[in-house]
Amino acid sequence: MTSSDVRRWRQSVTIPDLTDDAVHVWLIPLDASQPIVDVLRSRLSSDELERAERFVFPRHRSRFIVGRACLRVLLGGYTGESPEDLQFQYGPHGKPELIAESGEGRVRFNLAHSKNTALLAVTLDRAIGIDIEHWRAMHDGRDIATRFFAPAEIEQLNALPAAQWEDGFFACWTRKEAYIKARGEGLAIPLNEFAITTQPDNQIAILQSQIDPSDRERWSVRELHVAPKCPGAVVVEGTGWSLRLLRLPDWPERTADLPQIIQRSL
Ligand SMILES: CC(C)(COP(=O)(O)OP(=O)(O)OC[C@H]1O[C@@H](n2cnc3c(N)ncnc32)[C@H](O)[C@@H]1OP(=O)(O)O)[C@@H](O)C(=O)NCCC(=O)NCCS
Repeated sequence: MTSSDVRRWRQSVTIPDLTDDAVHVWLIPLDASQPIVDVLRSRLSSDELERAERFVFPRHRSRFIVGRACLRVLLGGYTGESPEDLQFQYGPHGKPELIAESGEGRVRFNLAHSKNTALLAVTLDRAIGIDIEHWRAMHDGRDIATRFFAPAEIEQLNALPAAQWEDGFFACWTRKEAYIKARGEGLAIPLNEFAITTQPDNQIAILQSQIDPSDRERWSVRELHVAPKCPGAVVVEGTGWSLRLLRLPDWPERTADLPQIIQRSL
């Protein structure tokens, strides 16, 4: 894969076929007008509505509602089920998975959000983790790296020209987070007990892992360029898969102008 491939997000209002050698990543804009948020709210389950009500700031609540509704609509498209009928189960550290028959062809997913954007990664039968981060000025970036990153990562970051240090820092951050999300353990995994390539590159590798040494071969990692100063990463079980980058259109003002993919599920 070349870096030009990973920059190509194709707007889509249909769900492409998903094969077992593909990984689909959807970019979901989260800022929608109030009328749109109100119709999307109707897709949420009662526990999701309760969670939405707990947000202090209306903007965060709206983004959560939009993200959850799109998660249901898109996963409904992949599984052939109604969005509101989808049921989730949660791993010991909170990783959501679809409740589905076991066996081949099971849809797996992972979600990440940062500010006004969410990413949804979807595969068949492969564990997956995704992350996205908007850059912010990191006055204490070097302290954070020293405290949380593995020695092999700090060494790579320190070898970068000063102007590229923050790029490297956020590349490292998103890749590490996508890895702990793929494993489903979140921060139960000590962040300095595994190391990932930090350079901007398409040949990203897990360099070593004390959590499970076989993780070097078990997972493959790709960087994602979501927007300027907004990197992401996806970590997927196994090799030999290809990445398809898709995006939902920006939200219209009026519910009457919602794309078919959303209209159909309302
Ligand atoms: C969930 C977790 C893994 C990521 O949280 P986060 O960065 O706040 O949020 P993200 O947007 O990346 O992901 C959130 C989504 O991941 C999913 N998720 C929740 N728990 C998860 C887990 N254990 N594993 C994988 N995915 C998980 C959910 O879909 C969640 O969406 P929701 O909040 O709408 O329900 C969190 O437990 C965590 O460990 N955060 C680490 C933050 C950090 O300091 N990272 C440093 C990296 S160097």
